[in-house]
Amino acid sequence: MARKIVLTSGKGGVGKTTCCALLGLGLARLGARVVMMDVDIGLNNLDVVAGLDTRVMYDIVDVAEGKCRIRQALVSHPQAPLLYIMPSSHSLNVGKVSVEDMRRITDELSRSFDYILIDCPAGIGKEFYRAIYMASEAILITTPNITAIRDANKVASLVIGCGISDISLIVNRVRTDMIAKRLMIKPQDIAASLDIKLLGVVPEADSIAAAACQTGSVLGAKDNVNLFLDIARSIHLGAAEQRIKRGFRNLKINKGGII
Ligand SMILES: Nc1ncnc2c1ncn2[C@@H]1O[C@H](COP(=O)(O)OP(=O)(O)O)[C@@H](O)[C@H]1O
Ligand SMILES: [Mg+2]
Repeated sequence: MARKIVLTSGKGGVGKTTCCALLGLGLARLGARVVMMDVDIGLNNLDVVAGLDTRVMYDIVDVAEGKCRIRQALVSHPQAPLLYIMPSSHSLNVGKVSVEDMRRITDELSRSFDYILIDCPAGIGKEFYRAIYMASEAILITTPNITAIRDANKVASLVIGCGISDISLIVNRVRTDMIAKRLMIKPQDIAASLDIKLLGVVPEADSIAAAACQTGSVLGAKDNVNLFLDIARSIHLGAAEQRIKRGFRNLKINKGGII
């Protein structure tokens, strides 16, 4: 069964799609089978950010309408065979994919993948809820801006209200020079004010900005991938540690030792 993780923020432009693509690649590099889904149907760009847009044949609307099978729509990354995207639609077919369609598709994908990363649209409308209802865990993305932090706080309450208790935080576009001059709030302080565990900190990176301007795809540059490897490790190995701990708790102890 896959872990279904939604990347959400409330505010647009804070780096959800960038983080989704780079985390997907990071997890795939650790040996996990990953599928990324862009729930921003009509205004999607995960395929471009992942460098897979020219390989798309079918999309999620085709799957929902029964024009193709799920396997036919999946596109794998040429440099990371364990990384896939379930393409979203560029045409404005927003209403054509229902919550039930999404559930059916994620349930089927869940059998073949370790992770389903869901790139959530900005805002808190119908599409936001469609993304949240598919997930069992959430990663909140914020930048150190007050407005982004305020939106993240509101979205955290909505996510909890939808029954997701496993929430962690990535603070993106952090500048240590500004923190040193006390011009930017520290990621640890943001996490404390939101009362959410800090999963990772991503610096403001010229390599990401340049890739976004040049080709649109952030996965080509090694520097970008390296920025996310530690976060991918904490997600992947953190889960393994939890499993081991649970395993120990389940062992029965008697006088002779563990049985
Ligand atoms: N750490 C970063 N350093 C520099 N630019 C970044 C960083 N993260 C994201 N960006 C840029 O910010 C813009 C918005 O990112 P995006 O992932 O599209 O945000 P969202 O999906 O939340 O709307 C993009 O142009 C992206 O390249
Ligand atoms: Mg986006």
